[in-house]
Amino acid sequence: MIIVKLGGSIISDKTTPFSFNEGVVRHIADEIAAVYPRQKFVLVHGGGSYGHPLARKYGIREGLGKRDRSMGFTRTHQAMLELNHKIVSVLLEKELPAFPVAPSSLFILRDGEVVHGDLTVVQELLAREFIPVLFGDVALAEDRGIDILSGDQIITYLARKLEPEKVIFLMDVDGIYDKDPKKHPDARLVEVVEDPSSIAGETGTFDVTGGIHNKLVQAFKLPCPAWFINGMVKGNLTRALRGEQVGTRVKRN
Ligand code: ADP
Ligand code: IPE
Repeated sequence: MIIVKLGGSIISDKTTPFSFNEGVVRHIADEIAAVYPRQKFVLVHGGGSYGHPLARKYGIREGLGKRDRSMGFTRTHQAMLELNHKIVSVLLEKELPAFPVAPSSLFILRDGEVVHGDLTVVQELLAREFIPVLFGDVALAEDRGIDILSGDQIITYLARKLEPEKVIFLMDVDGIYDKDPKKHPDARLVEVVEDPSSIAGETGTFDVTGGIHNKLVQAFKLPCPAWFINGMVKGNLTRALRGEQVGTRVKRN
């Protein structure tokens, strides 16, 4: 089984609220359909311009407090369900048996980390050859009442329990650079990252989950190889699935 993260940066334009890059999702679905059911998948998508702006607007990460925040909790989840519906619809068009699984119904957090999770349904879906589709979501929290759980954290949890062959992170740049390639034209693509502290990277303007830094922290917790590739480029996912050199590989010592 392979876990693929459809980063918010490829499924939506993070600078335009509620934008959906249907064409990108369609070509990713084509590449998955070419190897399914020989290859099993769990898909996890990010919040992109559906989740992050609302999570920020309502201050979800600050926990429960004002009544406004509980409305925000529900509204942010609704926005994620809307995005998930769009993604699953594209997968179904390609005859892939994608099935939505809402992480806010599976996980409880404390201090921003998962302290309770139940993957029975995900495991049973996989056993029946479905493709579970999870997503960065709101989550109940033991300490502050409510919080946000990133798709990257969900992947770490899934990988520890489900032991995938590898995790492939699809994003809108060619891999991990020594610094943000969108801000620094001289940034250099790193083929193998052995130490996350060697990578500089700022968080996007409305990201509430820590951007590239949190992504690398999570990748270094994985019990399997991880690849960071450009999901906007057709054929890249196929190359990574075949084990060809593309993008950046994370190597734990
Ligand atoms: P996603 O939404 O796809 O999960 P993020 O938006 O959190 O991913 O992170 C990808 C973005 O991180 C890229 O668009 C890139 O501009 C930015 N970034 C910042 N620093 C780096 C870096 N050192 N290497 C690669 N990307 C970086
Ligand atoms: C964020 O999930 C979820 C919400 C803001 C509700 P991610 O952190 O996985 O999203 P992206 O990939 O950065 O968009």
